[in-house]
Amino acid sequence: MAKPKVFVSRIIPAAGLDKIKAECDVDLWTEQMPPPYEVLTERVQGVDGLLCLLTDRIDPALMDAAGPQLKVISQMAVGYDNIDIPAAAERNIPVGNTPGVLTEATADLTFALLLAAARRIVEGVQYIKDGKWKTWEPETLLGADLSGATLGIVGLGRIGKAVAQRASGFEMNLIAYDRSATAEQAAELGIRLVEFDELLAESDFVSLHTPLTEETRHLMNAETLGKMKSTAVLVNTARGPIVDPDALYDALKDGTIAYAALDVTEPEPIAPDHRLLSLPNLTVVPHIGSASVRTRNRMAEIAADNLLAGLRGDPLPHQVKP
Ligand code: NAP
Ligand code: GLV
Repeated sequence: MAKPKVFVSRIIPAAGLDKIKAECDVDLWTEQMPPPYEVLTERVQGVDGLLCLLTDRIDPALMDAAGPQLKVISQMAVGYDNIDIPAAAERNIPVGNTPGVLTEATADLTFALLLAAARRIVEGVQYIKDGKWKTWEPETLLGADLSGATLGIVGLGRIGKAVAQRASGFEMNLIAYDRSATAEQAAELGIRLVEFDELLAESDFVSLHTPLTEETRHLMNAETLGKMKSTAVLVNTARGPIVDPDALYDALKDGTIAYAALDVTEPEPIAPDHRLLSLPNLTVVPHIGSASVRTRNRMAEIAADNLLAGLRGDPLPHQVKP
């Protein structure tokens, strides 16, 4: 019997790719850059399955170009804002994602950014490279303490809770805003659930953990940034467009907030000459939240398992709810 045809939109860890190669006729995109939308649209024509990444736009036109035999779309990421989920549901195409296995790695990176911002690590590295380190100085590069500070978590899901666990080890006060968590559930984790404005006003550190949706797009804008403490730090490891980059630039420039540390940006990648990067009170890393060896291997395995299940017509181990 002929093997199912699949398109895999980038080289992924062998832990997943080898499973797919064993059962499928694979068309693999081997370039560093993602396939341009028009090329992707051509390459998916006639495939039974598609394994994609968050850099691929998967819209109704692309699904139709693939054809009615398309049985499954498997994304190697937990976020799926690049995929038109209602359109896939209308066409009875299940969509898989990779929740859970990247929670700890992303929470670790969030905490790395939070600590780097609090203790001015990136500025310190630059200080040495600039030849400014002459002696131990009583009042140079002073940062903020974590113990006793208030961390406000926006989106108390898997990653938000894992960040809270880490923060409680650092003896931080925890508050959170979430659209569906209950005060009782939050209290079990030592977290006080508050309204969004209260979180902004009370937090010394605000960390974003919602998905990107129409509700959360530019959730952090001139008005909401203006409600934060002038000494506060904003951390974003969720999705770039949750923060309005122009409003963030103004807020960092005029001292509305003290610092921002980002794993994700709008647009992505951020251009090396983007004006945000000229600011001393901003740290950006290139969307590496889940980038640990173990995590990426597990993501690739789950993405492969979702793809293969969909090709067999079985329920996906991790299916996005339409
Ligand atoms: P999750 O478990 O679904 O958590 C998201 C939480 O946000 C849920 O509790 C959700 O509530 C809540 N939420 C949704 N919309 C909201 C709104 N408008 N206001 C307040 N709360 C809202 O997802 P996760 O696994 O923690 O991942 C969160 C996001 O992180 C992903 O969607 C992805 O975009 C991003 N991420 C980034 C990286 C990276 O590399 N930087 C890695 C992994 C994930 P409901 O349950 O009601 O939806
Ligand atoms: C990464 O950003 C993910 O959503 O998995």
